[in-house]
Amino acid sequence: MKKSIQIGLLGLGTVGTGVARMLMENMEILVARVGVPLKLKYIADIDLERDRGLQLDEFLLTSNAFEVVDDPEVDIVVEMIGGEGIARTLILKALENGKQVVTANKALLAKHGNQLFKNAMDNGADLAYEASVGGCMPIIKTLRESLVGNRIQSMTGILNGTCNYILSKITDEGIEFDAALAKAKANGYAEADPTLDVEGFDTAHKLAILTSLGYGMEINFDDIYIEGISKITPLDIAFAGQFGYRIKLLAITKAGDNTVEARVHPAMIPFDNLLSNVNSTLNAITVTADAVGDILLYGHGAGMMPTASAVIGDIVDIARNLLMNANGRVPLMSYQMDHVKQVPVTPIRDITTHYYFRFFAQDKPGVLSTISGVLGQHGISIKSVNQKGRKTEGSVPVVMLSHLAKEEDVQNALAEIRVLDVVSRAPMLIRIEDDNYEE
Ligand code: HSE
Repeated sequence: MKKSIQIGLLGLGTVGTGVARMLMENMEILVARVGVPLKLKYIADIDLERDRGLQLDEFLLTSNAFEVVDDPEVDIVVEMIGGEGIARTLILKALENGKQVVTANKALLAKHGNQLFKNAMDNGADLAYEASVGGCMPIIKTLRESLVGNRIQSMTGILNGTCNYILSKITDEGIEFDAALAKAKANGYAEADPTLDVEGFDTAHKLAILTSLGYGMEINFDDIYIEGISKITPLDIAFAGQFGYRIKLLAITKAGDNTVEARVHPAMIPFDNLLSNVNSTLNAITVTADAVGDILLYGHGAGMMPTASAVIGDIVDIARNLLMNANGRVPLMSYQMDHVKQVPVTPIRDITTHYYFRFFAQDKPGVLSTISGVLGQHGISIKSVNQKGRKTEGSVPVVMLSHLAKEEDVQNALAEIRVLDVVSRAPMLIRIEDDNYEE
């Protein structure tokens, strides 16, 4: 049996630093749980001068990450660089060299995961990625291991801490989106490119990974519908509150007969939905499955130590497998590779749900009936209407909640309403996710 497991860490950014810290500070407990020491042999980063509050001199430091993936003594390569460029090249090289790999790289997996998992399988290697979705929440393990006896029916998640922080700030302080984003940046929450967060791409990367695991399908990022939160206003959040809803950026996936829904967009959810009370940078996900009903995971979806915790969990899984000559024991995508299928994603135009519409309309007789008339012509029936304030000039916000409607009909109706003389500004549409919605 091996006397130790040798680790090569690529990238000493926030999460990489957390991984190194946890390996050092919790060494004793890790030895007790694994049976042999997890030895951090290398740390590779282009900047090894910056003070990270770590005692680094006991490790081999290098700015050449290829030295790490080419070292025959390294058992596990931990890729904490991120992005789709050099990180991908290094993972492929590590797999080719027979290394086990741990990554937190959601963008890379969402776009190139099918190929990377195939490469890992062909090389008999484990490629672990718990930290790619939901930080410390063990959602990958839950899907790959704990719930394997279930048919997954749906998943609904708050998977981006930056967006959840921004929406919480707008809700609590009534500030505009730009001001809330500035606070998120000042606190260091957003990705280097905050568009990834606020326009929903980061959430969609994570959803692409989860749909694959849940339904045994190839990762299909390109077909996920993605809409971010940058158009959400304090006014919409206030209206949502009047109807008993909070607005959250949700990742939603539902199993159909031969298709799955996979969409990312802001949604109104009732106050009594547990997700509605997940605030600030926290993440949560509800999984609904045939045997268990609903389960909820909740925790820090980002940050140094919570994310490092997920990475260390993966390292330990792999180390235990290596010690038992059992790597590859858990299929990388939950399903055995020859059972992973291509499953089409339902186009957004084909979904049906309930809708919140907000128009800015002239306050004069007949305007409401003109708008609801267009909606009616497209088969959309209105459940309630709320007009705020009275104005003899200019426009007032008019809000409508629909009965169940088809997205395609909604989009066609809004295209007609947008160009009406009585309406100023583009209409706002927010989907409502409420299992107890009264028709
Ligand atoms: N930018 C991401 C977030 C980091 O805000 O949740 C974690 O994936």
